Amino acid sequence: MNFNPFSLEGKRVLVTGASSGIGRQTAITFSKMGATLVISGRNEARLDETLAAMPAGEHVAIPADVTSKEQRDGLADQCGALHGVVHCAGASALAPIRMASEKHLRELFTLNYDGPILLTQRLLQRKSIQNSGSILFIASIAAHIGVPGVGVYSGTKAALLATVRCLAMELIKSKIRVNCLSPALVESPLLEMMAQHVSLEEKARDYPLGLGKPEDVANAAVYFISDASRWVTGTTLIMDGGLTIS
Ligand SMILES: NC(=O)c1ccc[n+]([C@@H]2O[C@H](COP(=O)([O-])OP(=O)(O)OC[C@H]3O[C@@H](n4cnc5c(N)ncnc54)[C@H](OP(=O)(O)O)[C@@H]3O)[C@@H](O)[C@H]2O)c1
Repeated sequence: MNFNPFSLEGKRVLVTGASSGIGRQTAITFSKMGATLVISGRNEARLDETLAAMPAGEHVAIPADVTSKEQRDGLADQCGALHGVVHCAGASALAPIRMASEKHLRELFTLNYDGPILLTQRLLQRKSIQNSGSILFIASIAAHIGVPGVGVYSGTKAALLATVRCLAMELIKSKIRVNCLSPALVESPLLEMMAQHVSLEEKARDYPLGLGKPEDVANAAVYFISDASRWVTGTTLIMDGGLTIS
C-alpha cells in the first residue's frame, strides 16, 4: 500500500496562469499527483500546450482574462466543484516610484490583486470551493524585502498577504484554508522579460541555492493543496534559495 499524504487523487483544482511558467508547471505537477485540472489563462494555444503535457484525465481549459469581470465571472461559473485553487496569473513591471504612472498602478493592482481576489469572491459566492478545500495565492519575495524598481508590484503582492490572513479567518468554519507562497526569482518567461533590464547572472550570485525553477514552486503548491497541510492556514511560505538569510 502506498503512503502519500501529499496525494491529490480525487481533487479538482483550478490553476490560473496555467499557460506559462509557474502556473503551467503547477498544473502539470498536480495532474501527475492525481488531480483533475481546470486550467485558465488568456492564450488558448498555450493552454492547449499545457493540456498536452499532462497525463490523460478529465482536465479542461477555460480561457479567461482575470482583469475582465465578465470573463472572470464566466470562468468561475464554468468551474464546477473545486477542492483547490492556485492563483498564478500575474505580471511584473519595473518602474521606480518617482516614475510610476497611475496607469502602471491600476494595471498591476487590477491583475495581481483585484483579479485573484474577485475570482475567489465569485467562487465563494457560488459555493464552488468545497469544505476543507484550499486556496493558494502566489505572492512574491518582493512583498517582504526592499527591491528598487518594483515598489508597485511589491504592493500588489503585500496586499495579497494581508488579505489572505483575513480571508483565512472568514473561511475557517468551513475548514477552507487560505495561504500564500512567496517565491524569489524563478526561471520563467516573466524572468526572461526582466533579464532585458537586469543581469540574472549577477542576481544568481545572491542565491546560495541558485535561482528557483517552476518545479520548486509547483512542489510546494502540492503541499498546500493536499491534505498534508490540513492544519495550515493564513500563512505565507517564503521560497528563496537562501537569499534572505545569506
Ligand atoms: N518568475 C518569478 O521570478 C516570480 C517570482 C515571484 C512571484 N512570481 C509570481 O508568480 C506568478 C506566475 O509568474 P510566472 O513567472 O510564471 O510568469 P509567466 O510565465 O509570465 O506567467 C504568467 C501567467 O499569467 C497569465 N496572465 C497574465 N495576465 C493575465 C490576465 N490578464 N488574465 C489571465 N491570465 C493572465 C499568463 O497567461 P496568458 O498570457 O495566457 O494570459 C501566464 O499564464 C505571477 O503572479 C508572478 O508575480 C514570479
